[in-house]
Amino acid sequence: SAISRLISAASRLQEICEQPEVLENAMRGRVTNRHSAGSRGCREMAERWPRAPRIIVVACGTSHHAGLIGEYLLENLAGCSRDAAEMMPCEVEYASEFRYRNPILCREDVLIAISQSGETADTRSRRRRSGKSARRLCLGICNTVGSSIARETDGGVYLHAGPEIGVASTKAFSAPAGRADTDLRRRGNPCELGAMLALPDQLRFVLEQKGTVYEMAKGTVYEMAKVFKYASNFLFLGRGYHYPLKEISYIHAEGYPAAEMKHGPIALIDQFMPVVIIAPTSDPNYRKLVSNIEEASAHGGGGAVRARGGSVIAITEEDNHELDEQCEYVMRVPSTADFLMPLLCVAPLQLMAYYIADMRQCNVDQPRNLAKSVTVE
Ligand code: G6P
Repeated sequence: SAISRLISAASRLQEICEQPEVLENAMRGRVTNRHSAGSRGCREMAERWPRAPRIIVVACGTSHHAGLIGEYLLENLAGCSRDAAEMMPCEVEYASEFRYRNPILCREDVLIAISQSGETADTRSRRRRSGKSARRLCLGICNTVGSSIARETDGGVYLHAGPEIGVASTKAFSAPAGRADTDLRRRGNPCELGAMLALPDQLRFVLEQKGTVYEMAKGTVYEMAKVFKYASNFLFLGRGYHYPLKEISYIHAEGYPAAEMKHGPIALIDQFMPVVIIAPTSDPNYRKLVSNIEEASAHGGGGAVRARGGSVIAITEEDNHELDEQCEYVMRVPSTADFLMPLLCVAPLQLMAYYIADMRQCNVDQPRNLAKSVTVE
């Protein structure tokens, strides 16, 4: 009914807006100041982690997307802090696929199950099959205290994101990323720890949509949602940490590494396919993202979204106006360390998805055919 739809929309907005606090809770007791971070709650991880030849993350749905960001974090940050001879690769697997294939696992590999509910059947089963019997270390990153995965793993961390009602995760997406950063920064430098401590307020700022830095005032995100509410497809492009981000609201959305666009998805782009490009100025590949937006490729047509008549929405950093001419809409977020950028860039996208879903009169908390927790195969 209309009333339940309105209640659902309000609670979804509330969960989006709770994210700054969720990040604070995820870091609480771990990053206390710019000079120290601890790994409380995961002692076994701290002991066995350095010997692990490989980290394998298993998860489903939104948790899988959070895991993809975790993969970049682990390899960029944890890899760097170890001897070159002991680099630690990380792989992220769909739990539903991983459980039925026969992956080659070493005894010292560490499995990490990410699950908001801690009850997802596919994610649980992998731990049972490849972890316990092989005495392989299995860790959990869960939101629900006392859940099956929390009980069945050897150790892990809770997200402390609070109950999440919306079926499509918002705050339970931000929390694992914040938590992973925290765990990895044990030997982090003060600048990065400082950036983490500043993050909740920056996110608050983005969500409150006040001030001059984030000039996409509520009105603009809302207006943009009105323009794109009838789109049937969205393409999300980014590189590095930003490629795993995507949002849905009964609109087919595809997240793609920007550089891969020329190998396929560019053929789909026309005026009916809006393209969101996440292009923070500090991205090491920022210049390449700019050419993805504007320039016709010198090598046979790769890259030029705008040249093919697509609507481009860019997300970039404060003070960057270089994209204003080329893009229909530019959303700006405050600058932070590159590995924290996804947590700021995702917020305007969540709001856009929320507004579009609401305008299309969808039940934003309970999309059709989906369950919050899938406890069967
Ligand atoms: C269901 C939900 C998704 C969720 C996925 C994994 O499919 O609809 O929103 O991301 O399960 O849930 P988990 O609790 O394991 O993170």
